[in-house]
Amino acid sequence: MTVPPADRTTTEPGLVPPPGCPAHAGHSATGPGGATRLHGVAAETDPMGLYEKLRAEHGPVAPVLLEGDVRAWLVLGYLENRDVATRSTQFSRDPRTWHGWRSGEIDPETSPLVPMIGWRPDCVCADGEEHQRLRGAVTAGLNQFDQRGIRRHITRFAHQLIDEFCENGRTELVGEFAEPLPMLVLTRLLGMADEDAPKLVHAARDLFKATETSLASNAYVLETLKELVAAKRVRPGQDIASVLMSHPAGLSDEEVQHHLRLILLAGYETTANLMANVLRMSVTDPRFRGSLAGGQMTLPEAVEQVLWDEPPLMVCPGRWATGDTTLGGKEIKAGDMLLLGLAAGNVDQAVRQDPSTRVHHNRAHLSFSAGAHECPGQDIGRVIADTGIDILLTRLPDISLAVPASDLTWRSSTWARHLTALPVKFAARPRESRELLTAPLPAPPPPAVGVPVAPRMPDSVPRLSWRARLRRFLGM
Ligand code: HEM
Repeated sequence: MTVPPADRTTTEPGLVPPPGCPAHAGHSATGPGGATRLHGVAAETDPMGLYEKLRAEHGPVAPVLLEGDVRAWLVLGYLENRDVATRSTQFSRDPRTWHGWRSGEIDPETSPLVPMIGWRPDCVCADGEEHQRLRGAVTAGLNQFDQRGIRRHITRFAHQLIDEFCENGRTELVGEFAEPLPMLVLTRLLGMADEDAPKLVHAARDLFKATETSLASNAYVLETLKELVAAKRVRPGQDIASVLMSHPAGLSDEEVQHHLRLILLAGYETTANLMANVLRMSVTDPRFRGSLAGGQMTLPEAVEQVLWDEPPLMVCPGRWATGDTTLGGKEIKAGDMLLLGLAAGNVDQAVRQDPSTRVHHNRAHLSFSAGAHECPGQDIGRVIADTGIDILLTRLPDISLAVPASDLTWRSSTWARHLTALPVKFAARPRESRELLTAPLPAPPPPAVGVPVAPRMPDSVPRLSWRARLRRFLGM
């Protein structure tokens, strides 16, 4: 892959400069060598349009530039995405395979790409047997919870969040529901205090944006998790952290910490985006809402349709070619970086001739990727979205958009796109005090053979409201 040197002009993601602004000259749609930038105005305002333009110009695999004009291949075809994700000997998940580290294309000390494409001691960055060792511990940690137990957590937190706004007759669903719910559930499953959730929402969002503060946010998340590991060494519980620490795979403390980071980040942003997208469809698309209300589409099916149309992770970093090869007619060189274009692959005409045709019965989308690294937390993501939204729509069935749909805005990065706010209104209702919500969880299922499970810690109910905890964190 041959492209000219990097142009390092940057701007804050999500802010759209006026056309022709000289300060943002580096944010034109094309960079050195005429390659298309996967960041900047075009990628932020209309990523799907950009993918289609790339597909028309280059076919199923296109050369693109990341932040700092770092070169990569974006895989747009459905079959090509599956090919790259499943052929792990040809396409490694280990970022150290990338030639860019050695050529100086990136400064590992300062590049905002490092949190997304840098090597870490976790299963994402491993291949083969090492991947199996690490992933085995992760799946043991995730599978210790049965669906009923997780639903109890979700139900409790969902009702608490709804109680905070149901008397007002209006709210903003992204910040008050879609973001806090997955973080509250995940921090609880990981073994953290509920009070940690608001701070982590802030840091996790920032980390995905690839801004100048992404490195600091990454360090904050790691430090919080380091403290968690130290605390669980002294007092283990029935949580993911404790299972990772005691798993026969023998993870070091550093590996445990990095896998907790992985689960938190991989699970939070994606589930929050999924929920926001389903909620938006419910209040903006009468056909979608009508199918839900009329029983033609169940909520889990609605979630699946949104996974096809708006994958929470639009572009998945990354794979690195282990040798020279050809993909989609392009010559890929050893060490080249490839990005899985999950959103582009999901609407490839090869599998969906008419993207407006409903495909909610079909789970063959790419949104959880494929192959050895396919998302191990997909059922947890689905159950958080299904249960949380079901509770919200059951308690507030008259919920509707409080602003014109054209006023809704998105914030985008190369990897994901999320709705900034979803203001809604409904008839004000009293809070629901539920004894059920404070009842202890049912006993956990028996541990899998060979997987020691630590003694269970008592569950606690958050004492402060979500808003109060965030205000305290921000010092307001
Ligand atoms: C709707 C929600 C979710 C979506 C769309 C999603 C999507 C993805 C995708 C695309 C990957 C990358 C696979 C690859 O590199 O090929 C991934 C990996 C991963 N996800 Fe998820 N995810 C979601 C929820 C979750 C949740 C809730 C958890 C944990 C509780 C989780 C844990 C992980 C882990 C640990 C990996 C790394 C697996 C490996 O490398 O072997 N995800 N996910």
